[in-house]
Amino acid sequence: MNPAIGIVLLLSVLQMSRGQKVTSLTACLENQNLRLDCRYENTSLSFQQEFSLTREKKKHVLSGTIGVPEHTYRSRVRLSGQSNIMVLTLVNFTSKDEGIYRCDLQASTQPSTTSFQNVSVIRDKLVRCGGISLLVQNTSWLLLLLLSLPLLQAMDFFSL
Ligand SMILES: *[C@@H]1O[C@H](CO)[C@@H](O)[C@H](O)[C@H]1NC(C)=O
Ligand SMILES: *[C@@H]1O[C@H](CO)[C@@H](O)[C@H](O)[C@H]1NC(C)=O
Ligand SMILES: *[C@@H]1O[C@H](CO)[C@@H](O)[C@H](O)[C@H]1NC(C)=O
Ligand SMILES: *[C@@H]1O[C@H](CO)[C@@H](O)[C@H](O)[C@H]1NC(C)=O
Repeated sequence: MNPAIGIVLLLSVLQMSRGQKVTSLTACLENQNLRLDCRYENTSLSFQQEFSLTREKKKHVLSGTIGVPEHTYRSRVRLSGQSNIMVLTLVNFTSKDEGIYRCDLQASTQPSTTSFQNVSVIRDKLVRCGGISLLVQNTSWLLLLLLSLPLLQAMDFFSL
């Protein structure tokens, strides 16, 4: 079989079985702002996304394209992102903004699939954002890098 066709087949199988998946949602405090990191697997070309806050059993849409973001939050929300992460910043975070934050993804496939993660945010229990906490959050990539170094060197050796 033509290897290119094999890859295309593999990709479409992956896309069907996994769709769009939110892998993690973490919260931390950056100065006076709440930062939410929503990580996901980007396997589908187009999808809808939403950040929301559920507080005292009422859901408030903060940003996104699934529901309509509430006017009161629009001026306080900043959104940025890359291919596999979406970062929401809620400026001037106070204890009034405590609750369950949620990140939703809805792939525009047929039938549409939804995936989400949620995180409970309490001001006194929030960790500060920073380079160190990012490392602590998941050190496995570092381990992987260290383990793969000899391999990279070996590959270099063979290519010489
Ligand atoms: C955040 O708070 C500061 C100081 O109270 C204020 O100057 C600023 O306008 C606030 N920002 C927003 C987006 O509400
Ligand atoms: C997901 O990946 C596709 C290409 O694979 C890219 O065009 C698209 O912009 C990505 N989505 C996001 C939100 O980055
Ligand atoms: C968060 O989502 C999970 C499902 O993924 C659900 O079981 C859980 O009750 C949710 N937590 C809260 C606090 O809503
Ligand atoms: C780091 O990520 C791996 C897979 O991505 C996961 O299995 C592991 O539990 C994570 N470790 C921590 C400390 O979050």
